[in-house]
Amino acid sequence: MCGIVGYLGKQKAVPILLTSLQRESYRGYDSAGLVVFESGQTVCLKAVGKLEKLEHKINGHQRLTGGLGLGHVRWATHGGVSEANAHPHTDCRENIWLVHNGIIENYAELKEILKKEGHIFRSETDTEVLSHLIEKFFQGNLEEAVRKALRLVRGAYALAIVSREDPDKIVLARLSSPLLIGISDRGEYLVASDANALIPHAKKVVNMDDNEIAVLTRHDLLVLKEKQPENLELEAEDAQKKGYPHFMLKEIMEQSDTVENAIRGRLLVNHGAAQLGGLESVKEKLREIEMINIVACGTAFHAGMVGEYMLEEYAGIPTNVDLASEFRYRKPILDGKAAILAISQSGETADTLAALKEAKRKGALSLGIVNVVGSSLSRETAAGVYNRAGAEIGVASTKAFTSQLTILALLTLYLGRQRDLSVVMGQRVTKELKLLPDLVKRVLTLDSQIKKLVEKYKDYDDFLYIGRKYNYPIALEGALKLKEISYVHAEGYGAGEMKHGTLALIDENFPTMVIAPTDSVYEKTVSNIEEIKARKGPIIAIATEGNEAIKNLVQDVIYVPKTLEMLTPVLSVIPLQLFAYHMGVVRGCDVDKPRNLAKSVTVE
Ligand code: G6P
Repeated sequence: MCGIVGYLGKQKAVPILLTSLQRESYRGYDSAGLVVFESGQTVCLKAVGKLEKLEHKINGHQRLTGGLGLGHVRWATHGGVSEANAHPHTDCRENIWLVHNGIIENYAELKEILKKEGHIFRSETDTEVLSHLIEKFFQGNLEEAVRKALRLVRGAYALAIVSREDPDKIVLARLSSPLLIGISDRGEYLVASDANALIPHAKKVVNMDDNEIAVLTRHDLLVLKEKQPENLELEAEDAQKKGYPHFMLKEIMEQSDTVENAIRGRLLVNHGAAQLGGLESVKEKLREIEMINIVACGTAFHAGMVGEYMLEEYAGIPTNVDLASEFRYRKPILDGKAAILAISQSGETADTLAALKEAKRKGALSLGIVNVVGSSLSRETAAGVYNRAGAEIGVASTKAFTSQLTILALLTLYLGRQRDLSVVMGQRVTKELKLLPDLVKRVLTLDSQIKKLVEKYKDYDDFLYIGRKYNYPIALEGALKLKEISYVHAEGYGAGEMKHGTLALIDENFPTMVIAPTDSVYEKTVSNIEEIKARKGPIIAIATEGNEAIKNLVQDVIYVPKTLEMLTPVLSVIPLQLFAYHMGVVRGCDVDKPRNLAKSVTVE
């Protein structure tokens, strides 16, 4: 969480820092700040609220022309939202200035020691101990002081640090939080938490690894482990709204393309199989795998739950799916025949990374389904499959989710065909997968119908979402989307489980969204619809085209096209994403940046 940026070059730092911060503003938006070196002096500006508040302050300030600076957008962990707690943080003498993403776990004990030594603290943050700790060791050389200070620190950090007394230099350090260095054609250096923030200035990128310290000067980049810069492969347009009012809507509407991108070149239709280049190196090991443990957080966890049904039904592999934050602290029984599969859009989620590392330690084969190329997870896994969904900026995940589902179907085919899945059954799956992008396109045309539906339901304060089997995780995901985007209370539940408690909530003021495609559990779901109807609960159903009978049971129906049962979640989730989006808009919420949340959760 939090975004850090930096600039060292011949241009004015402030506009470049602001552009980079804008591109990272999804990472934290409760306060922002920057520090710029201005003719031997440091100018630090901070503002509570979104980045525009900081821009406003900068506009009212003297002309800032310095060519070296750091910036930060904050998502508060330690200490409330205030200017004092906003980054950059400094030391007693205002010599050391730094921005931080991560958490310093032993900050309280360090603070106690530093206070006893006479250091004066100005904020409630964990970060501020770092500036004082570096001050303690500073004797004219910044990187030396940083190195000594970090030996005492426990936790996670991406850090960018400057010093008034060791000028023209940015020192960077990374442990478990992403940090990238961009290099422009003109030899300028940029620093960012996310590759998106490096465009349009940088052409090359160095992705820092854990425990590395880097020193940027006007002439040189020194990473304390030799590294070759790689080409920065990102399209500038990825981070633009392309005429849509919000990133979220743009990303929902891109799903036909992103599902297509996930499939492209990976289907062997005639063989009823999938080819996944990223798994080639572990192909033989995968044949031996007897158990898969999926770990993920948030929306990616719901994708993992769908994956569990797919892998067990079609590949015949016992599969567990865990919240990464739980898995890492339980005592999973894993051995060399187990694989750990981490699913993550960003590839930076701290809990998912930690869960993966824990399973690796126990000897499990590590696999990933990751969207961001070169992210920590993609580098930590032995093998994996990229989503190729393009940058996802909206804080609530949408296109990454349907892409994850598609990749999970491909993975199921791949592993299934290594085992007992017949060529005929494999062909059924490949044929349906091939049709999927067009079916997604059809579902996206429901947008105006769903917008109207939202007008009808916008004043309800509670919703229940239910589904069974492949669509049970979709009920959870639909409810999560509604909560995070519109702040409307929603419960996601297994339809069969509802009668064991949740049914008590149902009355005419508590609508239910029932995900009821015509599948192997349809009739069971209809029984649950009847139970709700008997208690006068309003019902919206997501049903398969052609199911006219359901109209007699429910108030409203959203029809999605027919597909193979295991692929129904890809289609049924889209109306739920649109429903949440329009609810959020109609209720005046900031759908791209929901309150209290951030896109990439790089803290525990
Ligand atoms: C955050 C985002 C969610 C996302 C989750 C996991 O909470 O707001 O949309 O699902 O992190 O992120 P990941 O990058 O690991 O998929």
